[in-house]
Amino acid sequence: MAGYLVEDTRKVTTHRLMEMKQQGKKIAMLTAYDFTMARIVDGAGVDVILVGDSASNVMAGNLTTLPITVDQMIYHAKSVVRGVQRALVVCDMPFGSYQVNATEGVQNAIRIMKEAHCDALKLEGGEEIIETVKRILAAGIPVCGHLGLTPQSINKFGTYAVRAREEAEAEKLVHDAHLLSDAGCFAIVLEKIPAALTERVCREVDTPIIGIGGGPADGQVLVLHDMLGMNKGFSPKFLRRYADLNAVMTDAIGQYVTDVKSGDFPNEEEKY
Ligand code: KIV
Repeated sequence: MAGYLVEDTRKVTTHRLMEMKQQGKKIAMLTAYDFTMARIVDGAGVDVILVGDSASNVMAGNLTTLPITVDQMIYHAKSVVRGVQRALVVCDMPFGSYQVNATEGVQNAIRIMKEAHCDALKLEGGEEIIETVKRILAAGIPVCGHLGLTPQSINKFGTYAVRAREEAEAEKLVHDAHLLSDAGCFAIVLEKIPAALTERVCREVDTPIIGIGGGPADGQVLVLHDMLGMNKGFSPKFLRRYADLNAVMTDAIGQYVTDVKSGDFPNEEEKY
């Protein structure tokens, strides 16, 4: 595994992410949900691969992240882990797997770690889940927090608009970030909040802050299929498209259809 633009080809650890923040080195994180894509993402030098519950939208076509189950997350995470050599693999705990109580949260966390062989877990929320986060950490499982726009709470928010514009919500977010950091989370994702608030949290807590739609931070995460331009209908302001794979794939598949129908494929060289 060469590692595109990567100087350090050792397996990424949570400890290394902390060092990267201290040294002012940015952390590159992307989602992946299957073996083939994970192998490409890892080979391109991404530091952290998130097996996001966005698999519910991207892979299964659901409108929200709520329907995906622990079994389905384990399936995706296992497939990703098989394709990765260098990146730290973080798996989302799906909706309903940790909100009931801390005991059930730890049981599900242990099950995901045992069956998926991933390196860490991500949970959405602050004070309301802090006891669960502490219990999972106490079981020896690294935890990544997730604040701001937390898609598992979409039915409470009612919209995917920017969060924490109002002072009270911003202050709660800063308080929650301190709680997660003090508890020992190795990173915190801040989704779709004002850039000034992200900047404040990055400054106030030692934990690496990973932004998505939150402006500059210690690192960034995007949904793989969005940044590759596979998902035509989704174009929020924060999304930078690095390719137009929707067009590339549609052209290639269209050409295949044409070639099959015209009898051009397979030709003399393409048969036994
Ligand atoms: O599920 C996911 O893809 C995520 C990212 C958007 C951070 O949680």
